[in-house]
Amino acid sequence: MKQAILEIQRFNPDVDQKPYLQPFQISYGPDTTILDVLEQIKLEQDGTLTYRRSCRHAICGSCAMNVNGRNQLVCSQPIANHVRRNGRLTIRPLPFLPVIKDLVVDRTRFWDQYLRVKPWLMPPADVPEKEYRVTPEEVAALQEAEKCIMCGACFSACPIAGLTPAYIGPHALLKLYLRVAAPRDVGISIRLDEVENQDGIYGCRTATPCIEDCPKGLNPTQAISTLRQMALKRQKFEEKRRQRQTQLV
Ligand code: FES
Repeated sequence: MKQAILEIQRFNPDVDQKPYLQPFQISYGPDTTILDVLEQIKLEQDGTLTYRRSCRHAICGSCAMNVNGRNQLVCSQPIANHVRRNGRLTIRPLPFLPVIKDLVVDRTRFWDQYLRVKPWLMPPADVPEKEYRVTPEEVAALQEAEKCIMCGACFSACPIAGLTPAYIGPHALLKLYLRVAAPRDVGISIRLDEVENQDGIYGCRTATPCIEDCPKGLNPTQAISTLRQMALKRQKFEEKRRQRQTQLV
């Protein structure tokens, strides 16, 4: 087992004026994840340490935190990959979001912005008796966006979302793309109306932290760029979709 110092940002609003870093001596093996170490600290050193986690399999997205300046799902990260040469690593809560306690942030703005894109499917009036018939190419175009687990890593890494609270954010725009690009969805106009502005698709400055910090390797910037092209040729795109929907059933 190796030794390291894990510095964790602590903040208890009941007693602390501001956040501070607290060092913990920890030991780890080659397969120990950062979450394993947090659990170890909570169990053996300080039961008041507060963080979110659930699935432990990089699926629920609840354990997203900032590790040495990059957002990560700590349940999927071997700590050995992150200990710096000086034998330390630093864990902070996701940036740009209000801290509730220690590593737990308030995600209200993240979810509010997500709801603006009406992320549910709006199906055609003519629903088939069996399944919709969608081509493999159409499915392939959606697959990337479908992998998003809504962990908040991209939203919290985005400087525009951080500094401009009205900006809808890369997570919501990626999910919007998922709906707009789905041939069985009829909500193109409603959805594009919501984001054809500076708080939506034109707010992105194509900074790439959202791509760099996405734990699933997704590319919200590309989705936003595709949405811009769709918006630019909106009438043509809507007409094409109407035609396509007649072949779905
Ligand atoms: Fe669910 Fe890490 S605990 S993604």
